[in-house]
Amino acid sequence: LHRRPIVAGNWKLNPSTRGEAITLLKLLAANFINHRNDNNNYGLASSTLPEVVIFPPLPYLSDAIQILAGSGIQVGAQTAGPNEKGAYTGEIAPSMLVSSGVSHILLGHSERRTLFGETNEYINMVLRKCLDIPSVKVILCIGESLSEYENGLLETVIDEQLRGCLANVDAKYLLSDRIILAYEPVWAIGTGLTATPSQAQYAHEVIRASLAKYYGSEEVASAVRIQYGGSVTPESMEALMSERDVDGALVGGASLNADSFTRIFDVAV
Ligand code: G3H
Repeated sequence: LHRRPIVAGNWKLNPSTRGEAITLLKLLAANFINHRNDNNNYGLASSTLPEVVIFPPLPYLSDAIQILAGSGIQVGAQTAGPNEKGAYTGEIAPSMLVSSGVSHILLGHSERRTLFGETNEYINMVLRKCLDIPSVKVILCIGESLSEYENGLLETVIDEQLRGCLANVDAKYLLSDRIILAYEPVWAIGTGLTATPSQAQYAHEVIRASLAKYYGSEEVASAVRIQYGGSVTPESMEALMSERDVDGALVGGASLNADSFTRIFDVAV
């Protein structure tokens, strides 16, 4: 089964100023316009190249949408809340993001879970709000901590996260690519400790097995795209992508350098 690769850059809380963000966006736009036009370096139709998404901080979203227009890079938001409108100071509704031009919403990143108290139930609530909006795609992050990994709990944690986050979520959303998964072992995020390709492959197999059991459908399990995230670099990308169940990368640190991010994309082609 062919699954189109997806490469995403999560800028997290970077860079510090709008000026720096605009510089990075312009470099990315220049790199990717050369990659994505009909005479791209790959000799491939641009629609068959990997999907690319950048997740800048909220204040830079409209600059990103404007500067990346025509580059083939889509723009996503790093989080959203469960409410649609009203007296919720500081909150951001999924529908507001989508009507502002956002194509993807990242949910359940481990930093949201550990630093901001997001639970599987909360993530499920936001996910279902996002799915009510036609077309927007969600990248749902899951992954075990170091102590869970060391205690042999990877399978249990992944199963619990999937069941919690996907409660009352119809299989059609996985079959139609509205939900993409990102496997991010917490011990590999920002640590330089990339999971080995076989560790990533094993975890992705566990995810597919869990989905097959939960939905009673092998078709769902094999349709969903699963990115790996955690200290991905241009150097580590090749071996990761050669694994059967790894469909792309969710890149943190290396996405803040336009050339590194572009090289990671090149490997995914
Ligand atoms: O969302 C991205 C991940 O948390 C990975 O971050 O590449 O800096 O380890 P990292």
